[in-house]
Amino acid sequence: MPETDAQTPHPTLTDYYDSESNKAPFLEEIFDRTAVHYDRIDTFGFLGTGRSYRKWVLTRAGLRPGMRLIDVATGTGLLAVAAAEIVGAENLVCVDPSSGMLDMARPKLNATFIKAGAEQLPVADASFDFLTMGYALRHVADLQAAFREYFRVLKPGGKCLLLEVSRPATTLRYKMARLYFRDCVPKICRAITGSPDVQHLMEYYWETIDQCVAPEAILAALRESGFVEVQRTAWVDLFSEYTAVKPPH
Ligand SMILES: C[S@@+](CC[C@H](N)C(=O)[O-])C[C@H]1O[C@@H](n2cnc3c(N)ncnc32)[C@H](O)[C@@H]1O
Repeated sequence: MPETDAQTPHPTLTDYYDSESNKAPFLEEIFDRTAVHYDRIDTFGFLGTGRSYRKWVLTRAGLRPGMRLIDVATGTGLLAVAAAEIVGAENLVCVDPSSGMLDMARPKLNATFIKAGAEQLPVADASFDFLTMGYALRHVADLQAAFREYFRVLKPGGKCLLLEVSRPATTLRYKMARLYFRDCVPKICRAITGSPDVQHLMEYYWETIDQCVAPEAILAALRESGFVEVQRTAWVDLFSEYTAVKPPH
């Protein structure tokens, strides 16, 4: 169970790290070690649709040319590259705690890159029209702390878009997701990359999906952090898109 009152996205996963205070160092190390393989894993995990899906969802969420965007947990820059095609790389700030991931992202786009976590963004108050976070919500230490920070850095009327893989609610979809993400993806990713670290990461990935708080808790945490127009859209009950707006006044 969590050591503190922090609203953790999932319980402490002691097969991977022994206490909540060791979660961030565990994540930094595993993402550093697997960064070089991440784009291939993503292509497989999303069945090759990841890039077009990311651009489609950004457009649907209202991202428009010229907006200033901060991409939190930018990783190798997959969501950032899609965003840059809309707003221009000069309007983009990309943030991630993993140096390995940032090293993979930098050559892809001429944006500003900052090594930092979601809970403490080293940027000014009210400086962005849009904030994105792709497939990393389960990695933050405290949902409310992250969402308060998102609220702080957005301009009034600014929008937050969080993409996440969720545990399906229905038994059949849950079993299918488990068969794919728990029993197939880690072994296939290892076979493709030859990396035991990738297998370990993908086993961890399923555990965090399986044990993540329900979407309703994420929606409630967004509302409690001051956001309005808080919504979730889910595709096949698995791919979640959370949107929330900082009140204009
Ligand atoms: C699965 S990758 C997502 C990459 C990218 N957003 C995408 O759409 O493909 C998860 C990223 O979350 C980052 N991460 C881990 N803990 C974080 C935290 N507390 N705050 C922000 N990012 C974090 C990792 O370093 C990693 O690069």
